[in-house]
Amino acid sequence: MATTLAFDVYGTLIDTHGIAALLPPQLGPRALEFSRAWRDKQLEYSFRRGLMRQYESFAVCTGQALDHTCSQFGLRLDPAGRERLLAAYRSLPAFEDARPGLARAREAGFRLFAFSNGRAETVSSLLEQAGLRDFFLEVVSVDEVQSFKPDPAVYAHFLGRAGVPGSAAWMVSSNPFDVLGALAAGLHAAWVRRSPEAPFDPWGPEPTLTVASLEDLAVQIHA
Ligand code: 2OP
Repeated sequence: MATTLAFDVYGTLIDTHGIAALLPPQLGPRALEFSRAWRDKQLEYSFRRGLMRQYESFAVCTGQALDHTCSQFGLRLDPAGRERLLAAYRSLPAFEDARPGLARAREAGFRLFAFSNGRAETVSSLLEQAGLRDFFLEVVSVDEVQSFKPDPAVYAHFLGRAGVPGSAAWMVSSNPFDVLGALAAGLHAAWVRRSPEAPFDPWGPEPTLTVASLEDLAVQIHA
């Protein structure tokens, strides 16, 4: 069987900071800072819920993280404004290298899956709107095991869904915690490091492969 590639979604295929342009104008030059704080809090909530075994969907983590970030930045959103932002989060843009990178990987014969913290329907619709859904055999979600990355159980679930051992699968992610999580669960892992300044976690294990763009991926892994 051809090698399996599991693509992370938020932050790897889809640009979560695309939301910055849609934030209320009163944030002014703090829009990107707000968007980063929102993303960091969203991930923190997913980690904490995973550890506490108090699962709620990633969409709930995203909404609660938005509320926290609004308090932090002194931004008052009415319910309609809140819903507008969360709706925008469901149709964020793809990174420029996503489409050509996925096309190359598919042409090279890999089996492509999307594997995300987001629920499968949400992620399918997000990928559809970004024009990427058709590249994937399946969208696999952590929601099916009610936990979050980097719980080893979610990577084991992915391997079960893809029907392959870790030695035949790669996680492809821009998120270092996802790369380390996949390595610890026995998968190979490619780190998509779009910015040369992006640091990796100094825990010891290193990504199996580091690429600056998704377009460089397919030529560096054997199908
Ligand atoms: C995802 O699972 C980690 O947010 C990232 O899509």
